Amino acid sequence: MFRVAVFVGSTRPTSSNLKLAKALEKLAAGRLEFNYIKIDNLPFYDDALWNDPPAEVIRMKREITEADAVLFVTPEYNRSIPGILKNAIDWPSRPYGDGVWTDKPGAIAGATGGVSGTAAAQAHLRAILPVVGVALMGKPEIYFQSRPGAIDDDGNFTDERIRTNLNIWVDQFVRWIERFAEPRAAEAADEVRKTA
Ligand SMILES: Cc1cc2nc3c(=O)[nH]c(=O)nc-3n(C[C@H](O)[C@H](O)[C@H](O)COP(=O)(O)O)c2cc1C
Repeated sequence: MFRVAVFVGSTRPTSSNLKLAKALEKLAAGRLEFNYIKIDNLPFYDDALWNDPPAEVIRMKREITEADAVLFVTPEYNRSIPGILKNAIDWPSRPYGDGVWTDKPGAIAGATGGVSGTAAAQAHLRAILPVVGVALMGKPEIYFQSRPGAIDDDGNFTDERIRTNLNIWVDQFVRWIERFAEPRAAEAADEVRKTA
């Protein structure tokens, strides 16, 4: 089972994006394990802070390093991603040459009450994430309209067609992660051989 570091772009306890992430987690049980990364305790990015880096930043970089993959579930704010999420992407990309996003398989999703399903925000993520090194899955995509009752109180997708499509999404994400996990396993085996 792959460990996924999950970044939710909204910190509201009743966030529809958190609800979407939790429903995906439930759907993916046994295939993916989600670790929700705290992003609301980070200072605004400041290069000077690397002199004595904040513990939250070090922790977040470690959590990403330890993960097999990353997942971003974000609302759309004024046709882009929330600033808090951009800040959480910028920190682990530095110091220059020591970023931890490199070659991490990743996927994105988003929920909004609007019909566009965060398409504009996700387009911005698709521009940003490859720059910091995330190996982003192209498709399938998730543009989730968070209508009342779309996810029930137990965290299940109520629409069968949506559930089927999101199950396919989980399978594809697992396959995407495997493409990166296998070379890493091979590298680890090489290391063992070298030190034997
Ligand atoms: C500052 C701000 C800007 C927003 N801009 C957009 C937008 O461009 N497109 C959109 O679909 N929804 C927009 N919304 C509505 C959010 O998608 C909606 O509030 C959503 O529920 C927020 O996600 P959350 O439930 O996970 O907190 C905006 C909301 C806020 C607070």
